[in-house]
Parts: sequence; C-alpha cells; structure tokens
Amino acid sequence: MSDYEPNLVCFSCKFGWGYLSEEDTLSSQIKNWIPIICSGKIDATYVVDAFRRGADGVLILGCPEGDCHYEDGNFEMRKRVYLLRKVLEAYGIEGERLKIELSVDPDGRRIPQLVRKMSDEIKDLGPIKKI
Ligand code: FES
Repeated sequence: MSDYEPNLVCFSCKFGWGYLSEEDTLSSQIKNWIPIICSGKIDATYVVDAFRRGADGVLILGCPEGDCHYEDGNFEMRKRVYLLRKVLEAYGIEGERLKIELSVDPDGRRIPQLVRKMSDEIKDLGPIKKI
C-alpha cells in the first residue's frame, strides 16, 4: 500500500458553500481550502499556480446554475475549467486533476467529503508530472 497522499487545493464560493459553518472548523478539516467570494473570481493563473506549487489536484466549488451572485461567474469559471483542462492535457497532465462542482452546501458538510473523494481519485492517478 502506498503512502502517497495527494496535495489537493479546494477553492469554494462563500455564497454557496459553507457560509453557515465556522471557517476555522472547515479549515482544520481541509488542508488547502480557500474560500473565495465567487468562483468567477478564480483567475486561471491561480489554478496554474496551484499546480506549479505542487498541487496534485484542484477542486472548485461554485454556486448552482442561475444562482451566482455575480450573474455568470460560475459559468465563466466552468468555461475556464474546460479550457484549463485542455491546457493540462496538452502538457500530458490528466484533465481529471481539475474539477468544478456547481451546487450549494450552506453548512459545508459536503466539502470535506468532496475533497476526500477527489483525493481518492487522484491517488489512483498518482503524483502529478512536473510542469
Ligand atoms: Fe457563488 Fe458566483 S457567487 S459562484
């Protein structure tokens, strides 16, 4: 059995995810959790930078379709994820290392579960190839 523990970064929109929970509690459960005002504010360079700094995977949690407080931030981010996955794949990196989920979870209970699920999927892929 391998000791490999993937290094996952999770950006989550504060409006849709975990706004009723204590940020300190969630941060203690999730190593690289970055609450953000809207998923649309996540610049493509933040994602590339996360991979450059050693992330094996990046998970983005945004508000449900039609529910973004900044009109279409979540749609814009979804488009960015699509394009970023193509870029990663062009460098020989599996696109599954970048995911977006558009949903709502005010208590933030699903965040640790989603991070764990993605970590398990990344474990199967193994450590990321250096870019
Ligand atoms: Fe949540 Fe835009 S406000 S994704």
